[in-house]
Amino acid sequence: MLGTSDLAVAAAAATVPHIALNDGNAIPQIGLGVLRIDDEGVVPVVETALKLGYRHIDGAAGYNNEAGVGRALAATGFNTGEQRKKLWLTTKLRDSQQGYDSALAAFDESLKLLQVDYVDMYMIHWPTPFEWRSGETWKAFRKLREDGRVKTLGVCNFLPEHLERLHDETGDWPAVNQIELHPTWQQRGVVEFCQQHGIAVEAYSPMARGADLNAGNGTIAKIAQVHNVSPAQVILRWHIENGTIIIPKSVHEERQRQNLDVFGFALTLEEHAAIDALDGPKRAGHDPLTFTYA
Ligand SMILES: NC(=O)c1ccc[n+]([C@@H]2O[C@H](COP(=O)([O-])OP(=O)(O)OC[C@H]3O[C@@H](n4cnc5c(N)ncnc54)[C@H](OP(=O)(O)O)[C@@H]3O)[C@@H](O)[C@H]2O)c1
Repeated sequence: MLGTSDLAVAAAAATVPHIALNDGNAIPQIGLGVLRIDDEGVVPVVETALKLGYRHIDGAAGYNNEAGVGRALAATGFNTGEQRKKLWLTTKLRDSQQGYDSALAAFDESLKLLQVDYVDMYMIHWPTPFEWRSGETWKAFRKLREDGRVKTLGVCNFLPEHLERLHDETGDWPAVNQIELHPTWQQRGVVEFCQQHGIAVEAYSPMARGADLNAGNGTIAKIAQVHNVSPAQVILRWHIENGTIIIPKSVHEERQRQNLDVFGFALTLEEHAAIDALDGPKRAGHDPLTFTYA
């Protein structure tokens, strides 16, 4: 029989909607991001998230903690069997390993570290247009999907010109584009392009690494007060109502719980307009035209 805490977890996991992708798969709209958590530290963080009902983990080879994520999955039983099927696991290819053969070799290593026999989504981490190899990389990604080792293929940080270039070379649009997106950096042109081409938008740094919690001179805080929720919950709810996939990161159990608990209230049109108006010219992260994560 399920205990009360099991029931609470089942309820939390069941509340998170799934977003239908252009390849027929469906991704939980909320995941846990694990950037800037070291390989030891990530183990309890992932275990706690799974305990709270998270069923989507967003990692990357470049975060240097795939082994720790793998240990957490093994310890909780989420790496095999029926439990594995309930989890959406994303990882990303290092920029330095783009290219056909190097991507295949890198993927083998990721799978070994994660202690799983497939990942749900494999992503190109940055477009690196100054050293473009995404067309070749994509062909390796397709092979991994054909071999059943990856379910969904995605990209991160692609601007429309990069999506078009990939499409010209491969005939494919990715299922997901993971981009920096939060109230003060809304990237409406990129979002619109993705929507027009059936590419789901996934917001990274959905709270601008915490900076947007104070956005607009108290705008977010005032909305939070009205609904008796936290500023983080207001921002995450805004993303959810916009249909965006989100991957907030927290190492704290109480914040992880909050970030999943965004289905008990709804924003008004006026509140949406007030948050929409916070859009600005300053990103929190890096510029895809010039950055490489190596
Ligand atoms: N594809 C890419 O190029 C790329 C780039 C950047 C990020 N990402 C992904 O996106 C994920 C999330 O982005 P992010 O980590 O940059 O930023 P974020 O999720 O917007 O913000 C995380 C920060 O907010 C704090 N926080 C979390 N929940 C909170 C809450 N309820 N109340 C108050 N503070 C809260 C966290 O602190 P504590 O941890 O101390 O609680 C942390 O400092 C990453 O972990 C990664 O998976 C991808």
